[in-house]
Amino acid sequence: LGTRKEAGLAWSAAMSVGVSALDTDHKCLIRIINLLGNVVSDEDAEQAMEMVVDTLIVYGRFHFAREERLMAAAGFPGAPFHCAEHHGFVHHIRRLRDSCAKPATPKMCQELWEYLIDWLCHHILIQDMAYKPYMINMAGAEQMAQAVAPPLPMTDRERILSEV
Ligand SMILES: [Fe+2]
Ligand SMILES: [Fe+2]
Repeated sequence: LGTRKEAGLAWSAAMSVGVSALDTDHKCLIRIINLLGNVVSDEDAEQAMEMVVDTLIVYGRFHFAREERLMAAAGFPGAPFHCAEHHGFVHHIRRLRDSCAKPATPKMCQELWEYLIDWLCHHILIQDMAYKPYMINMAGAEQMAQAVAPPLPMTDRERILSEV
């Protein structure tokens, strides 16, 4: 399990799904959501909520496309249900974006952070983990993942942590 820190939740090796491009996506998604964890003023709240939801919609689309391509190639039998979960999440955050009350507050950021982190952690640990045995030894998985879209590069700090 990831550990909760002051700045939010940190990815941990227990969340690895066996394909590094997908792990990099998950780290990026967590990093995006954690931007909601440090909001202290009303002025920052609205901007943070809009930016996080918009960025999640864009990067989530890349990540879900990458996973869905690999699940199909691996012959993962749970793929249809898994894709429906992705679709439902995107639909939900789109609606959330349209219905965001204004003005936003730090408390709303905190609640959104909790919802998004809970959804993502649960999804990674339960749904994504289910395809791991199908993908971990699949030849060409990394190249196929990169072909959908390049994952965002890791920060130096994450690269250092992943090498120890
Ligand atoms: Fe995922
Ligand atoms: Fe997924």
